[in-house]
Amino acid sequence: MTIRSAAGLEEPRLLVRGGNRLSGQVAVSGAKNSALKLMAASLLAPGTSVLHNVPDIQDVLTMQEVLEYLGAIVEFADGTMTVDTSGVQSQVAPYELVQRMRASIQIMGPLVARFGQARVAMPGGCNLGPRKIDIHLRGLAQMGATVRSDHGFVEVRSDRLQAVDMFLDYPSVGATENLLMAAVMAEGTTTLENVAREPEIVDLCKFLISMGADIEGAGSSTVKIHGVEEMHPAEHTVLGDRIEAGTFLIAGALTGGEVEVTGISPHVLDLFLSKLRSVGVRIEENTRSIKASGDIDSYKATDVATLPFPGFPTDLQAQVVVLLSIARGVSVVTENVFENRFGFVDELIRLGAEIRVDGNHAVVTGGRALTGAIVRCPDLRAGAALALAGLVAEGCTELRDVHHIDRGYERFEEKLQGLGAEVERAGACCSL
Ligand code: UD1
Repeated sequence: MTIRSAAGLEEPRLLVRGGNRLSGQVAVSGAKNSALKLMAASLLAPGTSVLHNVPDIQDVLTMQEVLEYLGAIVEFADGTMTVDTSGVQSQVAPYELVQRMRASIQIMGPLVARFGQARVAMPGGCNLGPRKIDIHLRGLAQMGATVRSDHGFVEVRSDRLQAVDMFLDYPSVGATENLLMAAVMAEGTTTLENVAREPEIVDLCKFLISMGADIEGAGSSTVKIHGVEEMHPAEHTVLGDRIEAGTFLIAGALTGGEVEVTGISPHVLDLFLSKLRSVGVRIEENTRSIKASGDIDSYKATDVATLPFPGFPTDLQAQVVVLLSIARGVSVVTENVFENRFGFVDELIRLGAEIRVDGNHAVVTGGRALTGAIVRCPDLRAGAALALAGLVAEGCTELRDVHHIDRGYERFEEKLQGLGAEVERAGACCSL
């Protein structure tokens, strides 16, 4: 049966037949949440920057469109991207692109720093709940910029940003990145306190330093940025994607198999790995790889609360809920980062999970046998989690709205197939 969207186009679907134990090695791609910000940072200097290990995912292609819209020349092949920003003329990010990908707002800091202005469509709500940008804007205003909003756009202007001492109300990843990029060419030394400490922020700082920035304290909660007169293009390799790594480790654990992810340092997943161990998953850590294996019958409930890094990543919350659905006992999962991140629970219940959501808590009664059904991917990480559920559900699970998964996972089904999963795109393997 051909599924057509309202526009008449065939919608991509993913068909997953459950029951196979996954085993083998999978190399993680470059981190989405780093690559997008490095692409934005390349705007800080005229000339050509080179990024390696860039994942071939939809969000990266959208950011490429954003940079091209501004006038940059971007080439992307075999994981290497060159961004020539010499011809950048425009400082406007239109609604169509920002609405498609919120990370588009990360061009604000670099554009104001280099050109003295940026006009960016306001992102509005998204399916993780309202995601505000007040910390980004308050920070830029404190640095002396005028911030105005009209017709759904926010416009930031400043001849030269001034250094400030600033305490962020919340260690927001996006705000930390925007303010870091704004401060590298500000006049004087900026001190940012209570900043996000995610590994992707450290990766961004490394790239900025190789472009000529003077930054101290990357990866700690206080960062000092000594403003420089100008930045130059640079070359950088994107760090591995810890969220992709965590997703495949759960795939291995869930199916009672043995999966090793390579190209990632275990330290970026410390708390996540310790939670998997509490469930009963065996974890082996090496310098640049992690292996997960286990016996499903021995898995037991554990409580999880998401928090900014080094806490449990919100981007692995949905995947761990799937694991807890099959572990024996009652687990409480608390989402502290985003307001509306349990949208996938109703879909998981369709597969047989027993979960009750109360505000930002999900009470998961585990030990359930899942059965395949048609489900919709409500967002990127939840989509991946539903695919994982399909791996252990009896029969076939059909995922709709797979474009969410394509935003952030490179060759998702191919990598799963490489581990022995029965999964294909819009084929006809299952009769539901
Ligand atoms: C980034 C990642 C996202 C990840 C998240 C947490 C990208 C494109 N997205 O999102 O995948 O899940 O980090 O690791 O890299 N907030 C405010 N005011 C602000 C900024 C944020 O109230 O000015 C709130 C948000 O509404 C949210 C929380 O802070 O509730 C966290 O947001 P933030 O850390 O900024 O995440 P993002 O950068 O949006």
